[in-house]
This record gives sequence, C-alpha cells and structure tokens, in this order.
Amino acid sequence: MATRKIVKLGDEALRKICKPQEKFDFRLHLLLKDLADTMYRAEGVGLAAPQVGILRRVAVVDVSEDQDELLELVNPEIIKREGSQCGREGCLSVPGRQAVVTRPMAVTVRAQDRHGEWFEYDAEGFEARAICHELDHLDGVVYLDVMDRELTPEEIEGHIPEDDQ
Ligand code: NI
Repeated sequence: MATRKIVKLGDEALRKICKPQEKFDFRLHLLLKDLADTMYRAEGVGLAAPQVGILRRVAVVDVSEDQDELLELVNPEIIKREGSQCGREGCLSVPGRQAVVTRPMAVTVRAQDRHGEWFEYDAEGFEARAICHELDHLDGVVYLDVMDRELTPEEIEGHIPEDDQ
C-alpha cells in the first residue's frame, strides 16, 4: 500500500486546470492505486490527482460503506445533470471545514477506464455529489468556491436542516 501526501488549500496544485491523461500505462495504474489507498486511509469518499500534486484529469470515488465500490475516472466529464440536492460537503484538502453545497441530484459521467475504454456511469444522491466535487478539482475549483454557506464548528458537529433533504 502506497499513500501519497494530500496537498492542502493554499497549494497552487489545487488551482490548476489539469491536463488530459493520455497514456494508459503502468504509471497511470500506479497513480490510481495510490489515489485509492490515500483516499481510503484518510477515510474520504473521493480523491482527485491534483490533491496529490499530479495535474492530470484522474480521480477516484467510493461512497460505499465497505469501501469496495471503487470508481476510477480518467478524463471524466459530466454529460447529464438532473435535479438538485442541498447538503454538507467537506474535502481532504480542506481539513476541519464543511459547507453546504447545492449539486445535481443525479449525473451521468462519461470517462475512460484505466485501459482507455470509454464508459458512461449514472450516479445519484451522495455519489453524484462526490463525483461533482472531484471533477471540480480537475478544473482548479474547490467546494468553498461553489458553496451556499460555510458551516460553523457547532454546525459541523451537530445537525443542520439540510441533513434532512
Ligand atoms: Ni475535495
């Protein structure tokens, strides 16, 4: 298991437009493995390559409770958005903070897999939220840029109305 250092807000890697991943070789496979290992160790539900300082359009998402439904996204784009949801969000690069962010309720993402094969994937609810969050990272956007409001420390610990939605 190889984990990489997660860069924090203030690091310019989080503000870059990432370049397309062009090679589907062992280095990409290593990056995907490291992203997953790093995400799981940090108990996150998603991680994008720029968060470990790699400016490529690569991300992983896994919102499953057992951490056994890994989604690997290479050169992803959202091709369909439906509805909206309003809920809390955090980021491994922004420790200790949370915000309420409005996201689509459902998305269809088109991406390449680790071998370069294109596929489409439908997600809804929290998984759709996580995918939107990670894809934003590939364009230098962090959730604080698109939030409705930031939570207070008391709200982070407690219940907020948006949790009921
Ligand atoms: Ni994030």
